[in-house]
Amino acid sequence: MRASLSAPAVVAVLLAGAAFAQVKRGGNPEAARLVNPVERSPTSIAAGRRIYQRMCERCHGPAGKGDGTSATGAEPPSDLTDDLWAHGSTDGEIYTVIHDGSSIDMDGYAGRVSDTDIWNVVNYLRSLGPAAAPAGAAPPR
Ligand code: HEC
Repeated sequence: MRASLSAPAVVAVLLAGAAFAQVKRGGNPEAARLVNPVERSPTSIAAGRRIYQRMCERCHGPAGKGDGTSATGAEPPSDLTDDLWAHGSTDGEIYTVIHDGSSIDMDGYAGRVSDTDIWNVVNYLRSLGPAAAPAGAAPPR
């Protein structure tokens, strides 16, 4: 017998893939399992800060308070120094928001910033806030 996929089945699979690629508000268990491969060293934090200043500051503000002036969407840029992480608070979830983008208000940086540099930015953001969970920490349950 010939194994064949019906057109609706193919569409369903594609839609499921698209939904999965979207950053989900309220945390992303799949992303939470990612382990930060870059040690949170002063070198990494400094590299992350340089990228932040070049690419993120205009929206998230010089100190990460969300008070940059370039965001035009309905949603204000997040304060990245508080302990509120709308898309999840693990390193992996923060990495995924930066990599894939968050909703329509912030484009993803995959392809523009290397994976290592995205982890450097995660390490930098971790150095700002009070909720500095250890790198690669297990997600809160
Ligand atoms: C054009 C403006 C803009 C730029 C540039 C931008 N962001 Fe955002 N970002 C936003 C907005 C608006 C939100 C909140 C919307 C949302 O959560 O869906 C957000 C949300 C986030 C979040 C989620 C915070 C949370 O509470 O879960 C993170 C992390 C983040 N940005 C990091 C970055 C980093 C790192 C960069 C640079 C590499 C960057 N952003 C560049 C506008 C921007």
